[in-house]
Amino acid sequence: MGARVRTDLPAAVREDADRGQRGTGRSSRRCCATGRTASPVPGSGPSWKDSASMVLTMMLAGQDTTSSLIAWTLHHLAGDPDTQERVRAEAATVLREFGPPADPAALRGLRHTDAAIQESLRLRPVVPVMGFRPTRHTVLHGTGYDLSLPAGQSILLLLSHGARAVPDPDEFRPRRWFGTMTAQPFFPFGAGPRFCPGHNLALLEATLVVGLACRDFQLAPDGGKVGEKLAFPTGLRLRPQLRPGTAGATRR
Ligand code: HEM
Repeated sequence: MGARVRTDLPAAVREDADRGQRGTGRSSRRCCATGRTASPVPGSGPSWKDSASMVLTMMLAGQDTTSSLIAWTLHHLAGDPDTQERVRAEAATVLREFGPPADPAALRGLRHTDAAIQESLRLRPVVPVMGFRPTRHTVLHGTGYDLSLPAGQSILLLLSHGARAVPDPDEFRPRRWFGTMTAQPFFPFGAGPRFCPGHNLALLEATLVVGLACRDFQLAPDGGKVGEKLAFPTGLRLRPQLRPGTAGATRR
């Protein structure tokens, strides 16, 4: 998909980026897609490649992720009329007539909406697999074993939905987020220096859209099963057991 998006980007973006790179843009001109200001200093503007990367990031990292979260949350709320009613009631109070309140702090009043979103993220993590490569030798302490990872080793982490940490982990129960749930390890937006920079925007968008949707519409399931399209296998069921003598792994 990335390659197609790259070739389909409007010529205007390419021209804008080129103009910035050549330094022929007016000082206040903004690239229509990236929002970057074309620099009047020759050669100091964003390159075509940088501009294309930023557009791709906004489209892939910023858009599909949030819409997926909203879609799953609405799906879960359609099957949980009790929570949906609580979301509707608080949205009717906080969001009033035209949507976002003047004071963003008022959004804290959307507790059930927030809990429904967190619970959807837990059940259907938007980014279920994350790739890492340790920059130095690292030992991960698992349950019953230590895993030794040499520097540069590529690893894929599967995001757990708390199967070992919460009761009835397959159930959609937003109210669990009112208890001790926040103390559980939960990284839907990653962690550390590469932590998702868009997470506040994503949660704000999701809160507003879900709140407004429930305020104005009654959601009911339409029957049938909701599908998912992922490039990764989704039904993989494995119980990996460390083999005796596995390199890098020490049983405890
Ligand atoms: C539900 C919505 C979203 C989820 C679940 C999500 C999740 C993630 C995750 C797991 C990462 C990797 C973090 C890590 O490696 O530790 C990430 C990175 C990133 N996200 Fe998001 N994201 C969402 C929305 C957004 C939005 C709205 C934007 C921008 C407007 C955005 C921009 C980015 C960027 C630029 C990175 C790369 C950061 C870096 O490598 O330094 N994301 N996101």
